[in-house]
Amino acid sequence: MILGGNGGIGNALISEIKQRYPKASIFATWYTVKPDITDVYWCQVDVTVEEQVRAFAEGIGEAHWVVNAVGVLHTGARTPEKGLREIDAEFFRMNMDTNVLPTLLVAKHFTTHLRHQQHAVFATVSARVGSIDDNRLGGWYSYRCSKAALNMAIKNISIEWRRTLPNVCVAALHPGTTDTALSMPFQARVAEGKLFSSAKTAALLVDRLAEMTPEMTGRFIAYDGNAIPW
Ligand SMILES: NC(=O)c1ccc[n+]([C@@H]2O[C@H](COP(=O)([O-])OP(=O)(O)OC[C@H]3O[C@@H](n4cnc5c(N)ncnc54)[C@H](OP(=O)(O)O)[C@@H]3O)[C@@H](O)[C@H]2O)c1
Repeated sequence: MILGGNGGIGNALISEIKQRYPKASIFATWYTVKPDITDVYWCQVDVTVEEQVRAFAEGIGEAHWVVNAVGVLHTGARTPEKGLREIDAEFFRMNMDTNVLPTLLVAKHFTTHLRHQQHAVFATVSARVGSIDDNRLGGWYSYRCSKAALNMAIKNISIEWRRTLPNVCVAALHPGTTDTALSMPFQARVAEGKLFSSAKTAALLVDRLAEMTPEMTGRFIAYDGNAIPW
C-alpha cells in the first residue's frame, strides 16, 4: 500500500515494486492527479482527512507493506523559511497537517490490516533534515519541525506495536535528495552526483523495505541502509 502514489517518489516506488514483485497486489492513493500506472488499485484520498483514510482502509484486507510517501516542503505561494521573520502560522500548520498527521491516521486505521502471522513493514518517507542531532544549518522551520514530529510519531508507533503487533517493522526512511517537484526549487545547490532520479531512490528504498525484519523496528534509516540519529 503506497500513500502518495502520484508523487515523484511514491510513483517510482509503485513502478519498482511492480517490476520486482509482479504478483503483489498494489493499493495506492492519489490526490490531485490520477497516475496512469495500470494494475494498481487506485483511490483518491486526502490523507489529512480521517474519514477518507478510514474509508480507504475499509476497502483493503491484509497488508504487508504500508508506505507513506506523502509530503510537502513548499507551495506555489510559500517556500521554506530562511529565518524566524518568515514564520507563517498557516504554512506551519499545513506542514504539520501533511507531514505528520497522515502517518498517525494510517497507523490507526491500518492496525488490523497488519495483524497477521507474516513479517510486515510500516514505513514513512521522512527526511534527514528532521533529525534534531543532525541539524547544523538551521532554517526550514516548518518542514524540519514537521519531520521531527513525524519521526517521534514513528518511534511511538514502533513502541506501541512492539507489544501489540510484534510482526511489524516500523521505520522512518530518508530517501536522499531526489529529482521531484518537491526538491525542484533547491536542486541548483545539490552537489554533483548527489541528486538521485526517482527510479534510483525507489530501487534503494525497496532494497531497504525488503530487508526489514520486526527486530529492526523503531529506526530512522537512510537510502543506503545507514542509521540516522533521531
Ligand atoms: N525529493 C526529495 O529530495 C526528498 C528528500 C527528503 C525527503 N523527501 C520526502 O519524500 C516524500 C515524497 O516526496 P516527493 O519528493 O516524492 O515529493 P512530491 O513529488 O511533491 O510528492 C508529494 C506527494 O504528496 C502528496 N500529497 C500532498 N498533500 C497531500 C494530501 N493532503 N493528501 C494526499 N496526498 C498529498 C502529493 O499529491 P499532489 O501532487 O496531488 O498534491 C504528492 O503525491 C515527502 O515526504 C518528502 O518530504 C523528499
